[in-house]
Amino acid sequence: MIGIFDSGVGGLTIVKEIFKYLPGYQIIYFGDTARLPYGTKGENFVKKYSEKITDWLLRKNAKIIVIACNTSSAWASDSLKKKFSPTPIFEMINPAVAEALATTKNKKIGIIGTPGTIKSGVYQKKLLKADSNLKVFSQPCALLVPLVEEGMLDDKITIEVIKKYIEPLKDKGIDTLILGCTHYPLLKDIIEKTIDSGIKVINPAESLAKEVKIYLENNSVIDKKIKRGNVHKFFFSDEPYNLAKISHFCFSKKINPIVKDPFNV
Ligand code: DGL
Repeated sequence: MIGIFDSGVGGLTIVKEIFKYLPGYQIIYFGDTARLPYGTKGENFVKKYSEKITDWLLRKNAKIIVIACNTSSAWASDSLKKKFSPTPIFEMINPAVAEALATTKNKKIGIIGTPGTIKSGVYQKKLLKADSNLKVFSQPCALLVPLVEEGMLDDKITIEVIKKYIEPLKDKGIDTLILGCTHYPLLKDIIEKTIDSGIKVINPAESLAKEVKIYLENNSVIDKKIKRGNVHKFFFSDEPYNLAKISHFCFSKKINPIVKDPFNV
């Protein structure tokens, strides 16, 4: 079973790619809706709950962990990999960085994400470590998560917000833009249409799913076939807000949430 976690419903954009690239694998998902957003929380908070969730997923029999949250990947992936070694732990940042490096021609890369992800500087550091000639520009975009959760994917207001955030990056001449937050893949089309300039947009959810696929093809840590009667499980630590809307955007169908907060004791 693949254990996947996020601060809430946004991680379903990663589940969508996992289903696409890894059909046949059973998943267990945990969305920490009781404590979201992670994007404006401090490092220690995000680390603490990422650790608790990883431990819980492993106790639920997950064999690998996918951190389907950019903020948690930024703040907590190194400590999770250390603490839960040798469990394979995948995160959002390395695969997106690799894809951006392979994509850029003019070596100018933009990153958008939550305030926490941008503040951590992790995308910026990893890109510059790989190629010190890069010019990296970043922009926190706190308003985009609530707009997506309201289902306002191509609303006038959303288009204005996208312009406000992304035009300064476009003015810097970027040719590649990393969508460094779970919710932004749902805005990919409208972002491409709004910035209309041939900038290549990287979806880290897809980069990550491809990396997990290659790993599982080469390492037999999980039974591929879902056993009869076993289903995907979606846990949330509190009632997920607008789950039906987000799951419709991701899978064109509803999912059945199991609401339970294992950490509120
Ligand atoms: N899942 C978060 C991320 O990708 C966005 C939502 C939140 O701030 O909790 O950074």
